Amino acid sequence: AAVQVRGVVDVDVRGPRISRHVYGHFAEHLGRCIYGGFYVGADSPIPNEGGIRLDVVAALRALDIPNLRWPGGCFADEYHWTDGVGPVETRPTMVNSHWGDVVEDNSFGTHEFMALCELLGAAPYISANVGSGTVREASEWIEYLTRADDSPMARLRRENGQDEPWSVPFWGLGNEPWGCGGRFSPDAYGQLAKTFGTYTRRHNGNEVYRIAAGASSDDYVWTDVLMRTLGFALGAGHPEGNDAQKPFEAISFHHYTVPGPWAAKGSATEFSLDEYHRTLREATRIESILAGHAAIMDAYDPGRTVGLVLDEWGTWFDVEPGTDPGFLFQQNTMRDAVVAGVHFDAFHRHADRLAMANIAQTVNVLQAMILTDGDALVLTPTYHVFEMNKGHQDADSLAIAFGAALPTVDVDGTEVATVSASASRRDDAILISATNADTARSVELELDLRGAVVGPPTARILTADALGAHNTPAEPATVAPRPFDGAALIDGRLRVTLPPYSFVTVGMPVLP
Ligand code: AHR
Repeated sequence: AAVQVRGVVDVDVRGPRISRHVYGHFAEHLGRCIYGGFYVGADSPIPNEGGIRLDVVAALRALDIPNLRWPGGCFADEYHWTDGVGPVETRPTMVNSHWGDVVEDNSFGTHEFMALCELLGAAPYISANVGSGTVREASEWIEYLTRADDSPMARLRRENGQDEPWSVPFWGLGNEPWGCGGRFSPDAYGQLAKTFGTYTRRHNGNEVYRIAAGASSDDYVWTDVLMRTLGFALGAGHPEGNDAQKPFEAISFHHYTVPGPWAAKGSATEFSLDEYHRTLREATRIESILAGHAAIMDAYDPGRTVGLVLDEWGTWFDVEPGTDPGFLFQQNTMRDAVVAGVHFDAFHRHADRLAMANIAQTVNVLQAMILTDGDALVLTPTYHVFEMNKGHQDADSLAIAFGAALPTVDVDGTEVATVSASASRRDDAILISATNADTARSVELELDLRGAVVGPPTARILTADALGAHNTPAEPATVAPRPFDGAALIDGRLRVTLPPYSFVTVGMPVLP
């Protein structure tokens, strides 16, 4: 029998705005993300502009991709930007020691990345090298990118073919400094973040938002130390008040959904019910982890002047058989779509603090949107969740009050919710997203919509006949959204039937 889930949504009580930047992306020099994924070189027979794949650009533009983080990841802390500018033939090579130990030819560098962002209409988020770079190097990079006058770096940029300065709204101060980014203690990194942040100058009014590299999952100590590094005192706010000049504006953290130990994470496509349930348990942890970091930040900064940024998230399984273990290439199934749906609901609920999130990674790596194989391109189930959810970007969150505890499944002694939902509102429309993660039971979701009168629902569904279903170049639409007639509005009550392992969106106009 179907499980009944009831809730109330007051559509006139608008919550915090959901930043479009929580639908952000991440592209690292890792495996085939940049080379073969985003970039094929200008001489490729694959249609491109300046070497950038136009099919990938078109697919991501259809998502309204808001931002793109680059060049890493772990790669960022061994990347020296000066190697990637100037004539391609004279650019030095380097070893990408984290990812496959391959030689990087630096043919995709700063100018190519900025051209990619322009084609995508996405805001660049550049991560500076803190682990093995210098403060001067990072400071000169932002001068190179954003300065207009005759400064040394602005002149160099012009010599390399770009007259006008670019705008760079987001700047990362290293990556995972507790690990691949240099193995720092939180206090040691806090001082570095202050120093690198200080020398990340605002040239020509480029209002750069500086993001200090933060915790792994639920390492709340890291967040606590960084808040104190910013000068906050517990319970006493900032001595200079909400408008204090700080060396960085946001603190990041990373949380991956890994269903097993690192040595045996399991296959992306061939997984047992137990593995699926452990995946769900790890994905749903995002709610308490977000709440944990937010609670610490609230204690120091009740005015919410500092942003929280989840600049890496997503599933991490074993690589596909026969592929380079250092390239992190994995397929993407209906299970990944469930993981994405659960994450976005949590992001919407934490819109008051979460300023940005970036899925790892956009093309050919980990929980990708797009998989390429030569000139073929496949949109993954995760891509479709991003597309179906894009109406939440910059909309006001709406709280859903559930009448009773949500249904759960027991996963090794932990009760894990199998239903997830969130809602948002614009002046003229409401969007509701719902995920049924149960593998056997349908859910009858009934939401009492109070306040403004809304018009008839238009629903779409993403599901498949197996949890491991996925798309390939030969069968690209095995998992693809379809119109859905399982939603009805009767006397202000929205009733939606969610089949097992399905993701559903319901849009409704707000009537005048
Ligand atoms: O996304 C892959 C890697 O995961 C990133 O380079 C690193 O930051 C994280 O450990």
